[in-house]
This record gives sequence, C-alpha cells and structure tokens, in this order.
Amino acid sequence: MNQSTVSCQAAVIEAYRERYGESPMYVIIAPGRVNLIGEHTDYNEGFVLPCAIGFATYVAIGRPTTLSKEEGDTRVEAVALDYEGESSTISLNEPINLPRRLEVSDDSPSKTRWSDYVRGVIEVLRDQGHALQSAAMVISGDVPQGAGLSSSASLQVAVGFALSSLFDWGLTPTDLALIAQRAENEYVGCQCGIMDQLASAHGAEQRATLIDCRDLRLDLIPLPSEVAIIIIHSGVKRGLVDSEYNTRRMECEEAARTLGVTSLREVSESSLIAHQQTLSEKVYRRARHVITENQRTLAAAEALAQGDLKRLGELMYASHASLANDYEVTVPPLDLIVELIQSVIGEEGGARMTGGGFGGCVVALTPHANVPAIKAIIESQYTLRTDLEARLFVCKASGGARALTVSQ
Ligand code: GLA
Repeated sequence: MNQSTVSCQAAVIEAYRERYGESPMYVIIAPGRVNLIGEHTDYNEGFVLPCAIGFATYVAIGRPTTLSKEEGDTRVEAVALDYEGESSTISLNEPINLPRRLEVSDDSPSKTRWSDYVRGVIEVLRDQGHALQSAAMVISGDVPQGAGLSSSASLQVAVGFALSSLFDWGLTPTDLALIAQRAENEYVGCQCGIMDQLASAHGAEQRATLIDCRDLRLDLIPLPSEVAIIIIHSGVKRGLVDSEYNTRRMECEEAARTLGVTSLREVSESSLIAHQQTLSEKVYRRARHVITENQRTLAAAEALAQGDLKRLGELMYASHASLANDYEVTVPPLDLIVELIQSVIGEEGGARMTGGGFGGCVVALTPHANVPAIKAIIESQYTLRTDLEARLFVCKASGGARALTVSQ
C-alpha cells in the first residue's frame, strides 16, 4: 500500500465519521488505468492491453442513522472531498431518469460534473431493478483528471462496487464494469468502449490485462520485474475529446457497415485491402488502424510475456505512428515526448500515446535503469520546445477494485 492509498483512505473515513458521527461500513478503492497498447480497438470488439495503476478513487459508504429519518424519503448523499466537500443528493423517490446525454458540440468542452458520474451509476442500477435504499458516500481520489488515466471510470466502478457491497448484491467485476460503461454511454455522453472499466474492475498486481472486447475474456500477462511503467502527462488539456471520440467511433461503424460485418474485428488486413475502393480514404485509414492495432496488441502481449522488450518497443512505436497518421488522435506534444523517449532508450522498450488521445499522456515501458535519462531529457527539452509543463509518474501495475479494511 503506498502513501497516497493510506492518506486517501484515511481522509474518506475521517470525513465520513465527522459528517455522520459513525464509521462507514465499507471503503472501496477502484484504480485508474494506463493502456499499454490496443487503442481505439475496444469499441470495435478488438483487443486491448491495459493495467490498473496505483492512482485510484476511494469511496467510504454506509447507512448513517441520521440520513433517512423521514419515512419514505430515500436518497443517496454523496460528498466529494476533492471539490471542497461539495455534496449532491440523489432522491430515489423520483422516476428513473436515463438517458441524459450531453450535447457535445465541436466547440463546447464537456460540461460533466463529478456528481453526474455518481448519478449515472445510480440510475443504471435502479433501471436494472436493484433495490436501493438510503446511503451516504464520501469520495476522494488521486487519479489525475483529464489525463486519459480513467479517473471517471474509476469513480463509476468505485460507486457501483460501494453500493453493491452495502446492499449485498454480489455484482461481479464484469457486472460493475458494464454498469459503469452504460452510465458513461447513456448518462454522461461519451460513447466509450469497455476497456477502462474492465481494467479498473479486474486489474492485478504486476500484471497487464489482455482483454478480448468481443466476449470480455481476460488473460493476465505478467510484467517483467525489471520493467518500469512510466507515464508522462503532456500538459495538454483534452478539450474536444468527446466529440472527436464519438466521430471516430462512427467512422469505424461506417467501415464495418460498408464491409458488411458487425464490427471491424471480423475484417482481416487482406480483406480490407481488397475492399479499399469501397471506402473513403479517411474511413479506410481509420479501419486500417483498428485492424493493425489488434494484431499489434496480441503480438505485444506475447512479447511482454517473453520479456522481449525490443519487440515490444517496435510494436509500441508502430501503434503511436498509426494513431498519429491513420487515426489522427495524437497531438504534436505527444509525438515529441515519444520521440524524446525513443532517443534515450533505444531498443530497450518503447513509448506511445495512451488513452483516447488529443492530449493526455504517453506511456513508456523500459527497464527502471532508464528512468533518470527519460526524466532528464523531458526536463531539458520538453518545456523548451513546447512551452508546456510535463509531469512524469513511475507506476506499478496494481490490483483492481476491492474493499479495504475499515477499523471501527
Ligand atoms: C477512452 C475510452 C476507452 C477507449 C480509449 C481508446 O479511454 O474510454 O473505451 O476507447 O479511449 O483506446
């Protein structure tokens, strides 16, 4: 358990006790994730290879006696410590209210608030017929926001897990991931795939999770102990993410429709080439990224399992190039970080953008011994060449969503 885990855990318990005069029944942790490879493949029923990381969301939950004094007044109260203790009350007496998609136009950054994520999960649970009663939650977390490290998925998985624990519904990690995804798709407005939620729900220490997004089969791939997971935040805010993301998704659906299949997972590279003329140039490139990225992801899982860092590196750089040229979701600062890292680590691992793109982070996998050289080149070159501040985190693959012990 790292320092941050202890302090976030202590903070939600203490705030819960202060507010409600009793201890929470559970404290749930759900991690963020970093995707090692397999980008924009999940919503095409393809392969992804993320791992859960040490940054996480924490939820202290209970049924305080002070909360439901008035008969028939059932509500969930949620408090966000990271938003100055702001609270939000969700009345369970009101009718179910899905969907509430946001209007995401090209020039409007997402207006989503933290409480929308909580409300979305609650609405999905109610819609599925789970019998909710009054409950109180205190929430805090340390997943950097807007960085492409799945702070929202970790919040949604944590809230679902907390309610499932409190009311003893016995939801599985995959159930929780699907509920969190539906909340995001139907209530928040981003038509995301299932990778982030599954990675948060199913993560395992020192393992990456190879997920087949067609049948949600998971394989845990051991990470070689000498390899560090380095995450470099570019400092670029991901402004237009939702609208661009949804556009990419529609382009892939168009490609699948034209090729007469239900998803791009069904299409081989040779069949795509054979049907190139039936697709617009842009849609062809989008499909080519997805199809080749699936191949790279399977090959990377194998390379990782064999500890073959040279091969892993080649695949990561090829993934980045495909995201830059075919899928067009990188931005120049991300390209620069990848280039700088490549210049210092050579063939000892690799780097690529990670997450939805349009800003956010780069992930690098390389022996721990290379961390100082990466730090040095980012510090000496990045700000100079971009006027942006990068932040670097050295992470470990961590366990998935779980309950922590609460001493009474
Ligand atoms: C975001 C989405 C995921 C996935 C990635 C791109 O993180 O939430 O479902 O599509 O982008 O790989």
